[in-house]
Amino acid sequence: GRTAAVVPAAGRGERLGPGAPKALRDLGGAPVLVHAVRAMCQADEVSLVVVVAPPESPDAVRAMLASAPLPAAVEIVVVPGGANRQESVRLGLAALPEEVDVVLVHDAARALVPAATVDSVVATVRAGAPAVVPALPVTDTVKRVGRDPNRPAGAPEPVVDTVDRADLRAVQTPQGFDRSVLAEAHGNAAEGLGGEGATDCAGMVERLGRPVVLVPGHEEAFKITRPLDLVLAEAVLARRET
Ligand code: C5P
Repeated sequence: GRTAAVVPAAGRGERLGPGAPKALRDLGGAPVLVHAVRAMCQADEVSLVVVVAPPESPDAVRAMLASAPLPAAVEIVVVPGGANRQESVRLGLAALPEEVDVVLVHDAARALVPAATVDSVVATVRAGAPAVVPALPVTDTVKRVGRDPNRPAGAPEPVVDTVDRADLRAVQTPQGFDRSVLAEAHGNAAEGLGGEGATDCAGMVERLGRPVVLVPGHEEAFKITRPLDLVLAEAVLARRET
């Protein structure tokens, strides 16, 4: 079978501050999305990348990727996205040809994931795991807070609990899947059977009761979310180029 990557890139990126959709912002001379697509192309097995563009600008994204320096050996398809990440991923999955049997889902915002991380996710799926997620230990101590609807805005938040950090992992993308398992998870979610509140595809597979396993992630696979993340990403790129 063939390995494809679906890259949801339809988010507005509001936490990054005002401006273009996040995937189209500049990072070291190229849009964030071009870096993310290049990262997928550099993986050994990926021969197709489906980019899910902001619904209002698929043509602009198509033109932008056509003129970007990307390996010609990898096919790139652009489809318009949806109202939330889950819907965008579903629209990307719908564009996959039949021969694809392993699917990666990769956030455009994790633009600098190293190829070796992508390769290890694919290899673990090919070895038989239905769902594979790159993850790192959590370095911050994490506390749970109560949800008190009567607490005035801006008032200090009461702590309910401290979660044992040793049991936590921060997950990244690309998440890799056996195609039929991911299609089933998204099919159920589209019918309102358990996609609500899932912030990643693996979470939807967990709700199917199928096993999800973790492989080591990479610190350079961080998600570009806030302005400081762009500063860090520029620094990572500059270090790679020297
Ligand atoms: O908002 P967040 O950073 O969690 O978004 C993760 C990824 O999902 C981003 O790459 C974003 O572009 C994508 N997304 C999407 N369609 C949406 C919302 C987010 O493709 N409607």
